[in-house]
Amino acid sequence: MASYDLVVIGTGPGGYVCAIRAAQLGMKVAVVEKWPTFGGTCLNVGCIPSKALLQASERYEEVTHMLPKMGIGVGKPKLDLATMMKFKSDGVDGNVKGVGFLFKKNKIDSYEGTGRVLGAGKVEVKGNDGKTQTLETKNIVIATGSDVAKLKGVEIDEKRIISSTGALELDKVPEKMLVIGAGVIGLELGSVWRRLGAQVTVVEFLDRILPGMDGDVAKSFQRLLEKQGVVFKLGAKVTGVDTSGKKLKASVEPAAGGTAEVIEADAVLVAIGRVPYTEGLGLKEAGVALDQRGRIQTDEHLQTSVKGIYAIGDVIAGPMLAHKAEDEGVAVAEILAGQAGHTNYDVIPSVIYTFPEVASVGKTEEELKQAGIAYNVGKFPFTANGRTKVNQTTDGFVKILADAKTDRILGGHIIGPEAGEMIHEIAVAMEFGGAAEDIARTCHAHPTRSEAIKEAAMAVAKRAIHM
Ligand code: FAD
Ligand code: NAI
Repeated sequence: MASYDLVVIGTGPGGYVCAIRAAQLGMKVAVVEKWPTFGGTCLNVGCIPSKALLQASERYEEVTHMLPKMGIGVGKPKLDLATMMKFKSDGVDGNVKGVGFLFKKNKIDSYEGTGRVLGAGKVEVKGNDGKTQTLETKNIVIATGSDVAKLKGVEIDEKRIISSTGALELDKVPEKMLVIGAGVIGLELGSVWRRLGAQVTVVEFLDRILPGMDGDVAKSFQRLLEKQGVVFKLGAKVTGVDTSGKKLKASVEPAAGGTAEVIEADAVLVAIGRVPYTEGLGLKEAGVALDQRGRIQTDEHLQTSVKGIYAIGDVIAGPMLAHKAEDEGVAVAEILAGQAGHTNYDVIPSVIYTFPEVASVGKTEEELKQAGIAYNVGKFPFTANGRTKVNQTTDGFVKILADAKTDRILGGHIIGPEAGEMIHEIAVAMEFGGAAEDIARTCHAHPTRSEAIKEAAMAVAKRAIHM
């Protein structure tokens, strides 16, 4: 029987990063993965392919909307969707092979098959060839990720009624796309297909888009998406989709119930969230406890209810984000090596990779109000920033929330081009317990979009210069 210090089940960003860090710290490590390629949801059917299509479709739209303004005439762009999909797949391929390379470099053994926990210290691997073997290990990390949440009455066939996975694979642009759920997936992938020519309608159960995001940011972002042609039906739910005809017919009702209307579509994207994936892991038999939402329960050291079995990433509580899973992976490896592994859940940035991008870190205004924390707001619009003005991409703003007494930064929110790159300045300041004044007094290069962050920090003390 093969014997290890650590066996990691699942090779998404949580699992593969955990395995590498543990190997760096001198452990003998194996990973178990049931898919033919490493990298999990993120690299295969999530972050990476969606960003490839967002990048490509943004360039496609730029040709018509932006380049002529700059005096660059290249005519009407011609869409070659098959080549765009190849661009996406090549990017995925490079990334998943990269993980395989890192496993070899760090002398990590990999087992292809489905892992099942037999109890502390034992993992059974059922190979994709049907053969079973058992691995002995001092510790186990479960990093099995999440799966698409299903909607009653709307059967996903990944052809016409699709999840995010099908939406990354369509072989033609649907004339009309109905998106169920105005969350991150609905807005990112809805944007991709709108840019490529689909008429996109988004049906959202709540009376706002992006629950959890700062309300002010969500409202502005909705207006920008509407300007781009996305139609929103808020406070509404899809109760069923009739697939019998050439066009799909979705029944859409007010969330509270009432008269249904029928919306026709060529594709329906179900994007109402994701659920932890624990199928076939044998958790009940092994005594590993779940919480009420089916997530694996962990303590502050990411240990489950069974000693020596840990869990990280989408399968436990917290935001379902790749970098959160990665940080937890590093934390567990360091804890197992006797170090002070740690994830700071107060400073986890989140980014929506649309145009403009939306990025945030820390608290929203709603959260601060609810917690009764007095705060000051510094807000600076991109219309007043030299660089965005000259680039003619002035939609959006930077908003910094700082403690009213101490000036400590509690949250940062940005809508604007490359907001996802800019947010980290605020994240680093927060990680160091920084005040808005610290950013305000830091010299920022001119002309950059990041000057808007400095101005927002100055605006906290009502001393922005360019406003
Ligand atoms: P996963 O990446 O889900 O990996 C789990 C792995 O475990 C899989 O490879 C699976 O095959 C394997 N597995 C499961 N059960 C077993 C078993 N019993 N035996 C063996 N192997 C098993 N996050 C971001 O931060 N940024 C983004 O831009 C972003 N974009 C996204 C776009 C889309 C369309 C989607 C769907 C998600 C996106 N996410 C994004 C979320 C991100 O993908 C997840 O948060 C992240 O992948 C979670 O990592 P994980 O390691 O917990 O699990
Ligand atoms: P989500 O949780 O972001 O959004 C789901 C939306 O669907 C919510 O607005 C919710 O109110 C709505 N909804 C739920 N049930 C509904 C119903 N019956 N009818 C209409 N609306 C309904 O989930 P999403 O977009 O599926 O994404 C899943 C996860 O993937 C997210 O948690 C996110 O963290 C991650 N992700 C991250 C990305 C990024 O970081 N850029 C990109 C894509 C996904």
